[in-house]
Amino acid sequence: MKKAIITSALPYANGEIHLGHVASTYLPADITTRFLKLNGVEAYYICASDDYGTPILIQSEKEKKSPEEYVKFWNKRDLDDFRAFGIGFDLFYKTSSIENITFVQEVFKKLMVNGHIYEKEIIQFYCKTDKKFLPDRYVIGRCPYCKAEDQYSDLCEKCSRIPQEIEDPKCAICKNPPIKEKTNHYFFKLTNFVNELNKWLDSNSRLQKDVKKYVQNWIKDGLVDWDITRDITWGVPIPLEEAKGKVFYGWFDNHLAYISSAIKLLSEKNIDGKQFWNSADIYHFIGKDIVYHHYLFLPAMRIGINNEYKLPDYIPTRGHLMLQSKKISKSRNWYIGLKDFLSNFPADYLRFYLTLITPYSQDDLNFDWDEFSARINSELIGNIGNFVNRALGFTNKSLSGIVPKVTEFDSHDNEAQKKILDFKGELTVLMEKNELDKALKKILEFSAYFNQYFQKKEPWKSANGSNNCIFISVNAVSSLSIALFPFLPSSSECMWSQLNMDGKITDKNWCAISEIAIKSGHKIGEPSPLFKKVEPEVIQKLKSKLGK
Ligand code: 2FM
Ligand code: ZN
Repeated sequence: MKKAIITSALPYANGEIHLGHVASTYLPADITTRFLKLNGVEAYYICASDDYGTPILIQSEKEKKSPEEYVKFWNKRDLDDFRAFGIGFDLFYKTSSIENITFVQEVFKKLMVNGHIYEKEIIQFYCKTDKKFLPDRYVIGRCPYCKAEDQYSDLCEKCSRIPQEIEDPKCAICKNPPIKEKTNHYFFKLTNFVNELNKWLDSNSRLQKDVKKYVQNWIKDGLVDWDITRDITWGVPIPLEEAKGKVFYGWFDNHLAYISSAIKLLSEKNIDGKQFWNSADIYHFIGKDIVYHHYLFLPAMRIGINNEYKLPDYIPTRGHLMLQSKKISKSRNWYIGLKDFLSNFPADYLRFYLTLITPYSQDDLNFDWDEFSARINSELIGNIGNFVNRALGFTNKSLSGIVPKVTEFDSHDNEAQKKILDFKGELTVLMEKNELDKALKKILEFSAYFNQYFQKKEPWKSANGSNNCIFISVNAVSSLSIALFPFLPSSSECMWSQLNMDGKITDKNWCAISEIAIKSGHKIGEPSPLFKKVEPEVIQKLKSKLGK
């Protein structure tokens, strides 16, 4: 049996999940996992909250909570929101788990033995007003590469690079320029891995070409070693006597939770985690802002412990979501919380729309309220909902729900049957290439075709061959429900129960998309409309909430 482990970027346990998070990573990863499982792959979807880091520590202090309490709250809230959105993690764990802490410390020791860690006295920004070392997000300034202002010292959001030293630094808490103080830090020798990284990038043809180019250019520009130490109290402790009070930088430990969480889940199933990992396809779904970390830092660390855990096969990378053509910003309230969205519309509406607008590329995408409403009403409801309701409604009303016997097929019937028989092949190619937007469009084409077929055959006139039309249409609904399962799981289950099929849809195989599985004499269930129209007043109300 083929195996796969799917992860998506771990959300910081530091605020609610919004539409920007789900569009580029959680939704595509969920669709992919559901597809792989239906297609007979033993697949596990792993995620965790990213619990460490300076911003989380400071925020918990502001809220007068311990960091443990603070991250526990967000871990639960995130999982609740993801579940409501139909994200089917096999495990949603945390980077602060004992399993991860132990694993991170072991990895560090192995890297040390292998000569990939060194110690160096460095000069760190220190704020005299706040009496703190100021790592990462606590210093803002100008990016030395692209000159963008107001960038964090650990990541430029404009050019996605990691500044070696930010220009014109200021303390993010009090805005005063910090002074410099000496402290001892540990470094990961990323520069040891140039050859191996290049070899991996050259040989892995499953990585996105455009992203790969980017990364190869970064390597050409020259890599820098990574400072993996922070002088704060919240993080994985560095397991050395002489490093008491110091913790690892969050990006040293967080991606290791992909592995430690997978091992935990698998060990609960009595599966040898390491063996499984190394014989599975490994997918890490990310947004384009963390390409550097996943294409360079993460693989280098895995290579650095003798490839004990294999490198990713796929790192599907997608662009950022804009909102009404403007950049999402939590501070300006220019964002839509997932929970809030789902209190107004079913999860499948959002899954449908986001999938259609999110290409498999680094291009940014745009959420637009009017477009959302138009596409739900005309494509989800006007096309898919309409066809399913027509086919099942007619069967129910005119034939007491019994799928009729067929007579000789005419050319339209033959063509329609062929559509079903070819559907699986056409769709699988796109799913395997992770072209999820194109795959959903293909499903829409299929449904539109059957709307026309139904219209042409006019079964309501009880003309010749109308039994054939019903027989084929009901089978097309069955194909549709399986094809839609990865995308719209709850609507697909609804269609399945309206067809009155045995067992759960997840017992079915992806291949069944192209089977004429429903036989004459089968009695369908009670059809009812799958979807409700999006009303303009609701859209108006939600639009006016933005930015306030
Ligand atoms: O950028 C972020 O939101 C990080 N929390 C992503 C972490 S992914 C990792 F664990 F590799
Ligand atoms: Zn300060």
